[in-house]
Amino acid sequence: MTMHRIAPSILSADFACLGDEVRGVIAAGADWIHFDVMDNHYVPNLTIGPAVAKALKPHTRRADGSSAPLDVHLMVHPVDTLAAEFAQAGAGLISFHPDASVHVDRTLQLIRGAGCKAGLAFNPAAPLDVLDWTLDKIDLVLIMSVNPGFGGQSFIDSALRKIESARRLIDQSGRDIRLQVDGGIKVDNIRRAADAGADTFVAGSAIFGQSNYKAVIDAMRAELAAPMGKVA
Ligand code: DX5
Ligand code: ZN
Repeated sequence: MTMHRIAPSILSADFACLGDEVRGVIAAGADWIHFDVMDNHYVPNLTIGPAVAKALKPHTRRADGSSAPLDVHLMVHPVDTLAAEFAQAGAGLISFHPDASVHVDRTLQLIRGAGCKAGLAFNPAAPLDVLDWTLDKIDLVLIMSVNPGFGGQSFIDSALRKIESARRLIDQSGRDIRLQVDGGIKVDNIRRAADAGADTFVAGSAIFGQSNYKAVIDAMRAELAAPMGKVA
């Protein structure tokens, strides 16, 4: 049975009290904390860096003593220096866009060599070709279902076909690789992404846009658990 993971993106959290926000979504049942890094160069927005990841790390502790991984999504160019700094800051996973790295294989080695899980992220119009040469070196495939740079955008439907393609490649490889969808995920479309093959769901505005984070996360899990034919 697929173990689904829900990863709230703190891009839509209240930046004036990020520690409280991270503790809030963890108490509400978040599996991972999605950390969107934007550099006003690879994407037209500027967000948060390794110092903020380091400061938030102690806030990722769950009630049972375990920690929710910091799932760092790098939308930056170049990649390598920041990837190393995020590993140092306590990231659990680090994903980057292959078109932002001159030497993708080297960047993957750098991330894994620093003790983190490594992911590749694909923009809506980016092909998956690079997976032919990297599936043995990654732990996560991130399919963007919006153009990167901003929260609160609408889901791009062609991402479903790309999720299906990535699912086929991952299954053929027989490897333990997570398939993450990022952008425009809400209670009413999460199941479509899951049915296409995603197992890990980033959601920013859908969760932080509501006051009751647990109600949203519970509703997403209910959609994921609903029997076939009962999907909204
Ligand atoms: C977009 C980011 C996403 C974004 C998701 O560049 O990578 O993680 O925050 O936000 P929503 O869920 O609001 O689309
Ligand atoms: Zn993201």
